[in-house]
Amino acid sequence: MTKLALVTGAGRGIGAAIARKLAADGWRVAVADLTREPAAELAGALPGNGHSSWAVDVSSEASVDDLFSTVEAEHGPVTALVCNAGILLMAADGERPTIFDMTLDDWERTHAVNTRGVFLCIRAYARRRRETPVADGRVTTTSSVAAELGGYRGSASYISSKSAILGFTKAMARELAPLKITVNCVAPGVIDAPMLAAATPGSAPADTLDLLAKAVPLGRLGQPDDIAGAVSFLLSEQASYITGATIDVNGGYRMA
Ligand SMILES: NC(=O)c1ccc[n+]([C@@H]2O[C@H](COP(=O)([O-])OP(=O)(O)OC[C@H]3O[C@@H](n4cnc5c(N)ncnc54)[C@H](O)[C@@H]3O)[C@@H](O)[C@H]2O)c1
Repeated sequence: MTKLALVTGAGRGIGAAIARKLAADGWRVAVADLTREPAAELAGALPGNGHSSWAVDVSSEASVDDLFSTVEAEHGPVTALVCNAGILLMAADGERPTIFDMTLDDWERTHAVNTRGVFLCIRAYARRRRETPVADGRVTTTSSVAAELGGYRGSASYISSKSAILGFTKAMARELAPLKITVNCVAPGVIDAPMLAAATPGSAPADTLDLLAKAVPLGRLGQPDDIAGAVSFLLSEQASYITGATIDVNGGYRMA
């Protein structure tokens, strides 16, 4: 049977592109998102067989454990976990909330999804792989160029939550190495996906995205498929000796 990849936040945007790419690569894909509908629509349209769709709230311990238990009972062990789900909360007027008016609720909600959610998913995966090992286990996490640069339009809570992922990925790479599971991070740059639109308020000049694209050395915004290509590589056999790495996929917007 072909190997199973579980992708969170896969109902749209970058996650959907990752699911499509992995299915084209021959993976069976468990498409998970907050609500089942977009996940089911996507799973039904993927090439190949054995795909499935799931509703999960990655910030909820019970929901994540339930997801892994049900997916594995029905489809067998997850070989690859792609932690893609994330949120970026903007102020009501679409502007970046500054520290002066950021609410505790915004801070907590952001970390609950972007940081706690990754912890819960990796823990659920790791516990099951210790009990039921798989060959070529893989985990990818998703940070952001915003964490590496201090942000373009992301709020401080977003930057903080995505910065935690850079370190957490390395910790997980060390802890899961004995199980021969690699854990790597993808740090997208400015990607033409719904989150970018959410971070661009209606009051922004019409040429905002064009100007942004011009600031990227490769001269264009990233596409969800650019991120999907990096995840596909990290899940492949060719990447079996890469772990604890952060792969920047940003067109040169930020160079390490
Ligand atoms: N678009 C960009 O420019 C950009 C840049 C850097 C990093 N990223 C990161 O890439 C990832 C995908 O971004 P995107 O642009 O496709 O965003 P998006 O908003 O289009 O997609 C995020 C998905 O995550 C899901 N999600 C949100 N909360 C969830 C929860 N609690 N449980 C399960 N699923 C949940 C949403 O329903 C959505 O389908 C995110 O982690 C984001 O932070 C995006």
